[in-house]
Amino acid sequence: MIGPPARHHLFENFTSCLSVEPAFDRTVVSYQGNRGVPGFRWMKYKEGFSRRLVEQFIQAYRPHSVLDPFSGIGTVPIIATGHGALGTGIEIMPIGARVGEGIVQAANGVSATDMSRATDALLRRIKTSRPAPKRFSFPHVRITEQAFSAETELEIAKARHFISEVDRPAIRLLLDVACMTVLESVSYTRKDGQYLRWDCRSGRSLRSRVDKGPIATFHDAIEARLWEMIEDMDSLKDAYGRGYPHLMIGSSLNLLRKFSAGQFDMVITSPPYANRYDYTRTYALELAWLGYDQDGFAKLRQRMLSATVENKPKLNWLHSVYADDRVFLDTAFTMYRSQSVLHDILNALRNKAHELSNKHVIRLLEGYFQEMAIIIKELGRVVAPGGTVIMVNDNVQYHGEEVPVDFILSDFAEQSGFVCENIWVLPRGKGNSSQQMARFGRREIRKCVYRWVRTDERY
Ligand SMILES: C[S@@+](CC[C@H](N)C(=O)[O-])C[C@H]1O[C@@H](n2cnc3c(N)ncnc32)[C@H](O)[C@@H]1O
Repeated sequence: MIGPPARHHLFENFTSCLSVEPAFDRTVVSYQGNRGVPGFRWMKYKEGFSRRLVEQFIQAYRPHSVLDPFSGIGTVPIIATGHGALGTGIEIMPIGARVGEGIVQAANGVSATDMSRATDALLRRIKTSRPAPKRFSFPHVRITEQAFSAETELEIAKARHFISEVDRPAIRLLLDVACMTVLESVSYTRKDGQYLRWDCRSGRSLRSRVDKGPIATFHDAIEARLWEMIEDMDSLKDAYGRGYPHLMIGSSLNLLRKFSAGQFDMVITSPPYANRYDYTRTYALELAWLGYDQDGFAKLRQRMLSATVENKPKLNWLHSVYADDRVFLDTAFTMYRSQSVLHDILNALRNKAHELSNKHVIRLLEGYFQEMAIIIKELGRVVAPGGTVIMVNDNVQYHGEEVPVDFILSDFAEQSGFVCENIWVLPRGKGNSSQQMARFGRREIRKCVYRWVRTDERY
């Protein structure tokens, strides 16, 4: 356990910002609130915000320009644009970016009539007895092999063949989104927390005997999804038909550089949590659908914000990104290096490295906080004086050491020109893992929403 004085100092600084906020239950903060919400219900993007949460902040602050540097399926930029603001999002995984673009196209371009015609034609093609040429087969990677039944494989190939022949890019995109978003439901897999669980019918040799129940045919699943998309089109046009948000695909670790100082008056965001969650594993089917091969998976994972035990340091790359502004990078790294509570925790974990289930959690935490120091310092630059940052994040715990992510990131924020006004705590925290519980007892880890306000001073 980390003792005084460093922890006391950090806790003294930020404890007064803490308050339990009953309004932020899981259905508001997380994707769960999006069931039935036009557009955002198409993809079960479990890491996503609910529409309600984003609307609540946009309505309260009425910003002119809003940024989400980890924008997922584009919830923040799309909703901000729908409310008349300039919405910008940066997302590294093409899955989220593509769904977001699909919602925008449905709101601004494609008509329900054109989409219905395309749907009928696609469904007819899937029903034909003629198989698609081999090159349209699902592009499996090792971890997706045997995910589908033989019949589903044939139907998927016919759909891919059909989509390749569609001329209009917006229709092609929407059909592609529809297919990508049903892959899990027609497969022998299920996204389950950090894992992709396999159904016992997959033919893989498995220890567990998960049975996910009835599995729809690809034809039926895609039919249901496409009619849902068509049904949503009018509401999407009403809500988000005012223009196009700026959806950027790439890493905020180098793209934030491109914005001018004070360009945004609000940021609403939720970065990956420091919890080992590997998006490339849970979204393996969707990434394979998009053409990622094994090497592509590894490269994408490495480019993402460090949050898994596989991530290696990005220092050389970060030095090249900041080659023309070494001072900026050095200041961000100094914030990281001088965070004594974090380093006490890292040292405690290093001393127990032989007891850790995976010693690379140390490297994960080092990378996570170095990179978040850069992101937060950039937010201090791009948010205008008086502007607000809302950030959703969870604390984490490794080997009985709780990492107060909320306090550490708020400390970085205060060194980057913000004042931490609130750390709203969700009424229910996150339980620790069963192994940790057996060893260290039950502990609830804080899940929080932070509010930082940019001061008028120059940083
Ligand atoms: C917690 S989710 C946020 C989801 C989003 N709030 C929504 O409503 O869909 C974090 C997102 O950050 C993305 N991400 C991870 N590393 C990134 C990076 N370096 N740059 C931009 N996005 C990144 C992940 O792919 C993931 O979609």
